[in-house]
Amino acid sequence: MTWERINAGGIGYGGDYNPEQWDAATWRQDVDLMRRAGVTFVTVGVFSWSHLEPREGEYEFEWLDEVMDLLGGHGIAVDLATATATPPPWLSRAYPQILPVDVDGRTLWPGSRQAWCPTSPVFREKAVALAGRVAQRYADHPALAMWHVSNEYACHNLPCYCDTCAAAFRVWLARRYPDLDALDHAWGTAFWSQRYGDLEEVLPPRRTTTIANPTHVLDYRRFSSDALLDQFRAETAAVREHSPDVPLTTNFMTMTHFDHLDYHRWAPHVDVVSTDHYVVDTLPHRHAELAFSGDVTRGLAGGGPWMLMEHSTSAVNWQPTNPAKRSGQTLRDSLAHVARGADTVGYFQWRASRAGAEKWHSAMLPHAGADSARFREVCELGAVLGRLRGVAGSRVEAPVAILHDTQARWAAEGPAMPDSALGQVTTGQEIHRALRAMGVSADLLHPDVDLSGYDVLVVPTLYLVTDENARRIGQAARAGAHVLVTFFSGVVDEHDHVRLGGYPGAFADLLGVRVEEFDPLLPGDVVALAGGGSGSAWTEHVTLASEAEAAVLDSYASGRQAGRPAMTRRDLPGGGSAWYCSTLPDEETLRGLLAGVLDAAGVAHAALPDGLEIVRRTDRTTTWTFALNHAPAAVRVPCTGHDLVSGREITEPFDLEAGGVAVLARARA
Ligand code: GAL
Repeated sequence: MTWERINAGGIGYGGDYNPEQWDAATWRQDVDLMRRAGVTFVTVGVFSWSHLEPREGEYEFEWLDEVMDLLGGHGIAVDLATATATPPPWLSRAYPQILPVDVDGRTLWPGSRQAWCPTSPVFREKAVALAGRVAQRYADHPALAMWHVSNEYACHNLPCYCDTCAAAFRVWLARRYPDLDALDHAWGTAFWSQRYGDLEEVLPPRRTTTIANPTHVLDYRRFSSDALLDQFRAETAAVREHSPDVPLTTNFMTMTHFDHLDYHRWAPHVDVVSTDHYVVDTLPHRHAELAFSGDVTRGLAGGGPWMLMEHSTSAVNWQPTNPAKRSGQTLRDSLAHVARGADTVGYFQWRASRAGAEKWHSAMLPHAGADSARFREVCELGAVLGRLRGVAGSRVEAPVAILHDTQARWAAEGPAMPDSALGQVTTGQEIHRALRAMGVSADLLHPDVDLSGYDVLVVPTLYLVTDENARRIGQAARAGAHVLVTFFSGVVDEHDHVRLGGYPGAFADLLGVRVEEFDPLLPGDVVALAGGGSGSAWTEHVTLASEAEAAVLDSYASGRQAGRPAMTRRDLPGGGSAWYCSTLPDEETLRGLLAGVLDAAGVAHAALPDGLEIVRRTDRTTTWTFALNHAPAAVRVPCTGHDLVSGREITEPFDLEAGGVAVLARARA
């Protein structure tokens, strides 16, 4: 389903709108100011349950009717929420069994938001009823352009460890495993006397004496994600019954610090992939994280455009210290998402709240009002997005796929690992950041999806992989792709059972290497590599299966693994190759390794000046080059075209000011 009404045929612009916090006179000011800013859509009603159903079964829709009419009358499309994200006080008072329970068995009380248990039948019944009522009332409203089911599922209420979840977990397990023996085998319960005699003995992995059973924990994460997906689908069905033709979404959270849900399993159930992203100020490479998250979202959207549902114009309010965005950063951060495939730029929220938990969160319209630099910047962004109209629907073409799997991440982050600090995402992000610095776009893809068509595949610390996916990766290499596998990959199967006979288990034959032992490095420790670089975080005792097959590219020059291979390459008969890297190389060494793989694949790359990010979107006729300068000084941009931000015609390499952004349009040759 398309969503051009949200985007008014171009790049959509808007944000969450919470009219219940304001009087009707303010609503009228709001719509005028929205028009001034170029807003095309707003998300309404996310937290409106207590205003729409103030008492059980009693609905008050009149205020929302007025808001919908007002927005529609001003040409602003509505992404209408089911209002089910947070139950009202009467609901948890009448049905306290809906409250979630933490790992220690403590009930989490109402008083904030999302205080509901993912498997509560009562909550489901009440939420489905409200979603249905809202859908019935507004299905034919002219302002309605999209359905927004709940909000950021799992942001605060996962995992829940209550007895209802325990029972639902057993049902989920009974579906996953044919019998108790299969479950016992999968969980390795022969260890520590954990063998089950009855499914009823199985509990959620509540806090216990010491290390919990890792497969039990992993299955609980899988179950929890699926449980919320069931809730989402129940609410969705209630909406679709009344409104089958209006596109529907729920906002994902693809920021890398959030990993509660396996969105790969969710994405097929939304009409439009949408996500929220907030820059974390304390991250050392925060715009690399933004880029990574954008590429993850594009992967979920099957390579097509997606919606940035929320980000912030300036400060958030949930860090210990919340710096304001620099002048110009609002524009640059938004376009950084557009560069990676977002066709909608949304914020939390339109008007800054006067009261409540988020009154210190920035908004499109700040407390200072319309006469403010921030609002002028918001209006400027609206105008720029208007000029970027043609970008809508275009795609980012990437020659490289980096594999990204939330379940592999969960397993790698499980209890009692060789190193608790390094996982799927950390290594994937390092490689993505290095490629970004080399001007190479990468898609972040789940290993289940079609991997053909990529010149280069990167398998970063994919600790857990199924036999089938490992086979498909090997097949791609044998068919001519160039595959780089990094340390601690292919180690376990889907049950988190170690593949015996040498690591990296599932990839050992493909790579022609055999790892006998892992040897993580203590924080701060570094080992020298014979090629002049260094490795940190992780090393391994690597041996070659046969010297005729794999060649050593670099080896350890110091540390416990001195003299042994650190990086290897094996050329395959079909023209492809399989590379292995057993440590986390320093930036330059990593770029050198990636350059080798890219060269083997014939993929062009060129080191960009520090802080410069370049991404291209294309359609049949046009290429748009997004140049973003994250550095504190001007950088030289080696690109030309008509800059849709400044309006200038750029005919030769130019200097882009600190914090600046340009979008250069050029006809395709
Ligand atoms: C999101 C949420 C919004 C708002 C925002 C603040 O997690 O969906 O409602 O709370 O964060 O950054």
